[in-house]
Amino acid sequence: MQIRENQLLVIFGASGDLTSRKLIPALFALHSQKLLPGAFAVIGTGRSDLSDEAFRQLAREVLKISDDKKTTGDPAVDFIHLLHYVSIDTLQPSAYKKLKEKMEDVDQKFGIGGNCIFYLATPPDLYTIIAESLAIQHLNKSSSSGWRRLIIEKPVGYNYQSARSLHKSLYAYFNEEQLYRIDHYLGKETVQNVMVTRFSNGIFEPLWNRNYVHHVEITSSESIGIENRGGYYDKAGAMRDMLQNHLLQLLTLVAMEPPTLITSNAIRNETLKVLQSVRPIPAKEVAENVIRGQYTESTIHGIRMPSYRNEPGIKPDSRTETFVALKLFIENWRWGGVPFFIRTGKRLPTRVTEIVIHFKSTPHKLFCFDENRHNAENQLVIRIQPDEGMLLKFGMKVPGAGFKVQDVNMNFHYSDLAYNHIPEAYQRLLIDCMQGDSTLFTRGDAIEQAWEIVDPILWAWENDRDIPIYGYPAGTWGPRESDRLIGEPNMTWRYPCKNLSDDGIYCEL
Ligand code: BG6
Repeated sequence: MQIRENQLLVIFGASGDLTSRKLIPALFALHSQKLLPGAFAVIGTGRSDLSDEAFRQLAREVLKISDDKKTTGDPAVDFIHLLHYVSIDTLQPSAYKKLKEKMEDVDQKFGIGGNCIFYLATPPDLYTIIAESLAIQHLNKSSSSGWRRLIIEKPVGYNYQSARSLHKSLYAYFNEEQLYRIDHYLGKETVQNVMVTRFSNGIFEPLWNRNYVHHVEITSSESIGIENRGGYYDKAGAMRDMLQNHLLQLLTLVAMEPPTLITSNAIRNETLKVLQSVRPIPAKEVAENVIRGQYTESTIHGIRMPSYRNEPGIKPDSRTETFVALKLFIENWRWGGVPFFIRTGKRLPTRVTEIVIHFKSTPHKLFCFDENRHNAENQLVIRIQPDEGMLLKFGMKVPGAGFKVQDVNMNFHYSDLAYNHIPEAYQRLLIDCMQGDSTLFTRGDAIEQAWEIVDPILWAWENDRDIPIYGYPAGTWGPRESDRLIGEPNMTWRYPCKNLSDDGIYCEL
């Protein structure tokens, strides 16, 4: 359904990677599906010295629209005409006057009427100065002549303290209702489906607790390395880049109580409670409960892969983790005593994000079971990506004499649906912000709470040189020590595929 309220979208960092990789394609998809409001325009801004035309040309290249396409009425041509650019020095509050004039111009030309979203696709150290400079030009407050919203990207802070102080400075100019913090995992269709699976089916929820669940596994593995983001990644590491945000958000959806209503605050109150119930890992228990790793050189399909330390922009003695696996407990009535194992890493054998609910086995084993064919526990695998869907594993009688049991799968793939188009996360998140729905955006208190969970771990890693960082060959499932976390006989992580390489070195770095 077309968005009703007319509005302007101002993108800071418009010549950057996020704008071209995600925002322009998402906006174009929304435009092509006729979802954008009747009066809508985009102003890109930033320090790059571009004209409207040069910015449009960038968009044409990204969208592969040839420049001899000129016919009005053609969706691509019409979309390109929505784009504008004004170059300003974002660090100079006085420069924002020029932005304000451009906004007034475009607003008038398109008959928008004052509503505006500011999207900060910039490095986070610019968030405060941008918010403050917008306020100096009176561009921050919603009023009867139009609302104002501000979207920011992760990372929100570097630790609890910096997240608090960022929030403090943002709250001086924008209130919480105006702030939309993107965690693009929440925009993924299959992530939203976790709530629907749990709360729209009578069969799962009665089992979704410590009486029936043995443990829960959340994995997000990537086969790519750090690409050309060395400068950022070496300061962040897997804990700040993936676990503090995306993976803890997945945890909240798996573990939350049913909200009273499907409203933004009802849902976000429940997810916050999960984070508040996670038992922080004290510094002295970090070595035992958290395994960190860094990929080392190896060969994958005959191609030599560099070690993390040999990637561009990385210090040769870097101790930044590219892999982390940890064990958490949620201290509440539903989950008391159930371990949650979470892991993520770069240069693992494949790209997969999945949640596995491991149910307890039957209290008494009646049938003869063969360890190779049946592991005596039911598993529900929620596949977030790339093969979106769901899989239930259960035991079935092997046909023939006796009562032998083997595992079989009930397997649903989104791709089997007739209407199987899964929209990109950014499309959904942009629509939601345009409609003023913050359900899929992270609230400030939840971000701070998530930092409270990871801060003690980061502190221990920084201050206790005895906590090892393990090398794992690129193309393998991370340090072998991560299996130790699970710690029970016959139990391991679910490995969706085999190691691709074993010629590298497992070692302590
Ligand atoms: C980003 C991280 O937030 O998420 C990247 O900064 C990571 O390092 C990416 O590659 C993963 O997202 P997705 O959607 O590909 O799983």
